[in-house]
Amino acid sequence: MTRSSAPVRAVLVGAGHRGVLYSRYAQVAPDQLAITAIVEPDPTRRERWGAEFGIPHAARYASLTDLPDAGEVAEAAIDATMDQDHVRTATRLLAAGYDVLLEKPSAQNAQELMTLAEAQRTSGRILMICHVLRYATFYTEAKHRILAGEIGEPLSIEMAEHVSYDHMSMAYVRGRWGSSEQSGSSMLLAKCCHDLDLMTWLCNSAAPARVASSGSRGMFIPERAPQGAGTRCLSDCSIEATCSYSARRLYVELNGWQEYVWEQEEHVSPELDLDQKLESLRTDNRYGRCVWRAGNDVLDRQSVSVEFADGVLGSFALATNTPAPSRTLHVVGTAGEISGALEEGTLRVRRIRTDAAASFDEEMIKTSVTGDMHGGGDRPLVADFVRVVRGEPASVSSTQFADSVNGHLLVFAAELARQEHRWVELAELQTVTGA
Ligand SMILES: NC(=O)c1ccc[n+]([C@@H]2O[C@H](COP(=O)([O-])OP(=O)(O)OC[C@H]3O[C@@H](n4cnc5c(N)ncnc54)[C@H](O)[C@@H]3O)[C@@H](O)[C@H]2O)c1
Repeated sequence: MTRSSAPVRAVLVGAGHRGVLYSRYAQVAPDQLAITAIVEPDPTRRERWGAEFGIPHAARYASLTDLPDAGEVAEAAIDATMDQDHVRTATRLLAAGYDVLLEKPSAQNAQELMTLAEAQRTSGRILMICHVLRYATFYTEAKHRILAGEIGEPLSIEMAEHVSYDHMSMAYVRGRWGSSEQSGSSMLLAKCCHDLDLMTWLCNSAAPARVASSGSRGMFIPERAPQGAGTRCLSDCSIEATCSYSARRLYVELNGWQEYVWEQEEHVSPELDLDQKLESLRTDNRYGRCVWRAGNDVLDRQSVSVEFADGVLGSFALATNTPAPSRTLHVVGTAGEISGALEEGTLRVRRIRTDAAASFDEEMIKTSVTGDMHGGGDRPLVADFVRVVRGEPASVSSTQFADSVNGHLLVFAAELARQEHRWVELAELQTVTGA
């Protein structure tokens, strides 16, 4: 149903790093989106972002239970709460009549995915998942070329993700995704649900049928701690000055990962001075902990093999602790191939020729590389959500729930396959999810 051309009114649910980033679309495209309400339990964040987005005090809520049904203060919701809150908050928003843009992972297991699917079906509302990479030019260009038949019919797809040592140690060792026991998300779910989603989206002439996986952990364990390593870089470590993971070097001297490392200090002051930062890392900041003794329990390498129902073979490899981040792609079809690395901003398309001039054609396509971690996908995702809510045609990247479910199912099936050392049929999980 097409609604009016007025900006879509949205409530921001979870005013953390991601939620604020998406909401900023309202500042660059006020004719498209207006943030008219906020739900955030943390009073500092609630008031800070409530003021920034010009939200009336009456529409700043501490809890979802206080938010009125859709129509009064907003008709859409940006749900950027933490992983373990997604299903609970999104089902509530859908039941209250909101169209929802939900952060990934949409659910933490197949059972939860079923609950979410059911909530979406019964509400009839729009539910889109924040698979931002689908909107990065690198992947949309590959998708368009595949859809246009430029490489013929896809036969195989190889993908890899290399998580850099600074990103790995910040988020998946010291940070909130370092322990699946605490976050509820495996490494494959937290980091690579994007990649498996891309695999199913790029080769979507058929659904994935079965999956195998293996993985291990052995990098950030106490047994690997070098001689002289302590428990915190700046309190009891004698190798801090030469350690690659020094919190001082990574978060103060190199200024990396600011939005994560200092967020817990936000209530004190968003602008800590140098001494305050060092003191924080020395005492209670989780990002000041020794990487070998931070309690990391998520895998640091994993491989996933996928068979699609039409015979397409997919393979995905996760490697971590690389000097630089990179995501690579190689799709081979009956008439050609597409390959490239996201961070290099180039896709190479080769087509088999039929004349005698050369054995193949080659085209190099420049894709934009932006400063954000998602190849420029964050903002176009929100723009697409707004279009869909307005009843306008969605883009080719559209991450509507029904079209986003296979990537998550693949993650859950791969984890089961890894734990049980066997091929897992997706149908095993589909009986659980009813997908
Ligand atoms: N799409 C991506 O590529 C991508 C990248 C990074 C993170 N993420 C995901 O985004 C999500 C948010 O991550 P973040 O770093 O912004 O986290 P964050 O902790 O900065 O933000 C979450 C916010 O939700 C609030 N909150 C908690 N319970 C709530 C509730 N019941 N109702 C409303 N608000 C509530 C918290 O107080 C916090 O302010 C996570 O699930 C994460 O996995 C996605």
